[in-house]
Amino acid sequence: MSARTSLVAGNWKLNGTRASAVALAKDIAGGVEALGSEVLICPGFAHLGDVQAAIAGASVALGAQNCAAEASGAFTGEVAAPMVAEFGAQYVIVGHSERRALFGESSELVASKALAVQQANMQPIICVGETLEQRESGQLQSVLDEQLNAVIDKLGIAAIAHTVIAYEPVWAIGTGKSASSEQAQEVHSMIRKKLADLDESVAGNVRILYGGSVKPDNAEELFSQTDIDGGLIGGAALNAESFLAICQATD
Ligand code: PGA
Repeated sequence: MSARTSLVAGNWKLNGTRASAVALAKDIAGGVEALGSEVLICPGFAHLGDVQAAIAGASVALGAQNCAAEASGAFTGEVAAPMVAEFGAQYVIVGHSERRALFGESSELVASKALAVQQANMQPIICVGETLEQRESGQLQSVLDEQLNAVIDKLGIAAIAHTVIAYEPVWAIGTGKSASSEQAQEVHSMIRKKLADLDESVAGNVRILYGGSVKPDNAEELFSQTDIDGGLIGGAALNAESFLAICQATD
């Protein structure tokens, strides 16, 4: 048995209004009691303040979906990690595959963002994962190595203990086609082994989440795998009932 506390994180992406974000947050806050896992919701930046107020006093953590690599300065339109932290946020997702693919974020930039998140006393949720093409051409290990080495080099292996890693195969995100629990476990164990080669205690303590078409009906099977410590949930996190059912599946 590991001492790792499961984490289920909802990534709301570019969705909602102030009113709908508050309603969703309240419904989730109302249903999380007595769950053994940690529950996190990540609304859009503009909704952080309203959602913070909506979950006050509940066992729900708040996070953001991205942040700047810089703490301040002439970077028009950016949102800095310390600004996010001011809302009581504890986590920031960095390196989501949509940011890497649609906004051209390199592993180097993702690593700088992870560092900025830690410097603001929050934990980065570092997303890694391969495309279908990369998997089918045998590049899975080299893709993960490139993505992980960038953060290990930038943060140092000891600081990886204060991160969360999210394995999200790009082909499973928003497609309805989740990785099988065996496929996911195989990659989670590869990631943990890579970290263990550098520091066994860090590898044993760091949480590795699975993301990509997690639904109430496949969550339990995925979360029961040895190296899967919870999930990063997109579509199914936009509905309180399905998100709470997924949270329950960690028990
Ligand atoms: P999905 O998204 O659950 O809708 O597949 C997961 C993610 O993008 O983190």
